[in-house]
Amino acid sequence: MHHFSYQNHVLFAEDCNLKEIAKQVGTPFYCYSSATFAHHVDVLNDALSATKPLICYAVKANSNQAVLSLLAKKGCGADIVSQGELMRALAAGIPANKIVFSGVGKTDEEIAFALSKDILCFNIESEPELDRINAVALDNDKKAHVSFRINPDVDAKTINRKIATGKKENKFGVDYDAALGLYQRADKMDGIIVSGIDMHIGSQITDFSSFDEAMGRLVDLAKQIIASGIALKHIDFGGGIGIPYHHDVSPPPTPKEFGVLMEKHMQGLDLDVLIEPGRLIAGNAGILVTEAIFHKQGDGKSFLIVDAAMNDLIRPTLYEAHHDIIPVDEPQDEEMMHNVDIVGPICESGDYLGENRSLPKVGRGDLIAVLTAGAYGAVQSGTYNTRPLVPEVMVHGDQFHVIRPRQEVEKIIALDSVPDWLK
Ligand code: LLP
Repeated sequence: MHHFSYQNHVLFAEDCNLKEIAKQVGTPFYCYSSATFAHHVDVLNDALSATKPLICYAVKANSNQAVLSLLAKKGCGADIVSQGELMRALAAGIPANKIVFSGVGKTDEEIAFALSKDILCFNIESEPELDRINAVALDNDKKAHVSFRINPDVDAKTINRKIATGKKENKFGVDYDAALGLYQRADKMDGIIVSGIDMHIGSQITDFSSFDEAMGRLVDLAKQIIASGIALKHIDFGGGIGIPYHHDVSPPPTPKEFGVLMEKHMQGLDLDVLIEPGRLIAGNAGILVTEAIFHKQGDGKSFLIVDAAMNDLIRPTLYEAHHDIIPVDEPQDEEMMHNVDIVGPICESGDYLGENRSLPKVGRGDLIAVLTAGAYGAVQSGTYNTRPLVPEVMVHGDQFHVIRPRQEVEKIIALDSVPDWLK
């Protein structure tokens, strides 16, 4: 569910006309609905009311300060993967005791910084990392609360292998069979307080049998760990819940179905529950609005060249991900639909936002919206072809606020420095 809809034949974000926003900020731009963000947190809390998890929002999905501040106000914690994300989460008012630190390559500096902030937990991904966290904690007179990310060796059946993380051959988590031994080692370390167990098997998971299997394996292991005399405080089922991207494909299972699975697996296990959703909260809360530059008729193919490109939204190029694309002016029934590729101006054939799409005749100056771009959109953008980062706008009812302005090309150039010997 989201708050982007046609009103009087023009696409609105909540009560804001996207054409008006485009006039003021220019194109392309990301537009987020604050109501959709808030709604998604409410839907999750309602769907998971039986286990009442702490929602540690995966900051990587969309880390704008406005987004994080909104989620902090909704009571969310954070799942972070770098010192930068930790600083962002804290700056937005997410309390340190609701923050878990994931990631396979935490540096000593990052570990020390997180320890100094007293975060809830480090999600450890390997034995060498356990040793480093223990050493850094001892050096800093601290004790690190830790959880091990278990690799359950389950196929998450995601849309693309690049976002699957729960199989043995992936770099993530500790080996299932070695985990108990690691817990026993960690429990004896002076710089470590063992507090949890976690998993994250992949992203955009739409076949919940993978969750079912992985949760079952994680819970079995938790029970063995507890039986061996180690006191666990929490279990963290990670993120990965899939969302609808494609109006023509049947929607994925609902958060309620995820809640039913969690409730089933938590029977008889008295632990606090955490989850780390990113996409579910941010995905449908954002769109990318772009303007048509040219319509180009190729030999047997038609291209709509727009002012947004793969540097602004890389998901189609990187994962062959599908995003629905609609015109900002509502298509009228009688209009002829055309088959087009929606492409950007970048000098690569992989620079497309959508292939073989049916759109009404859209011409120069018309606006189109790439939907479900709130997660892994702006955060994965770059300045390839010296294209400045595009603005992000957040809507609240009939008001909007530029939550990140368009980058200036002069500032990008000014980052470079020419050595004296070249002058
Ligand atoms: N927890 C951990 C440890 C993660 O690595 C991730 C995402 C999440 C939680 C949140 O997963 P979500 O609920 O958003 O599926 N750039 C890719 C997605 C990469 C996901 C990386 N990890 C994309 O655009 O599809």
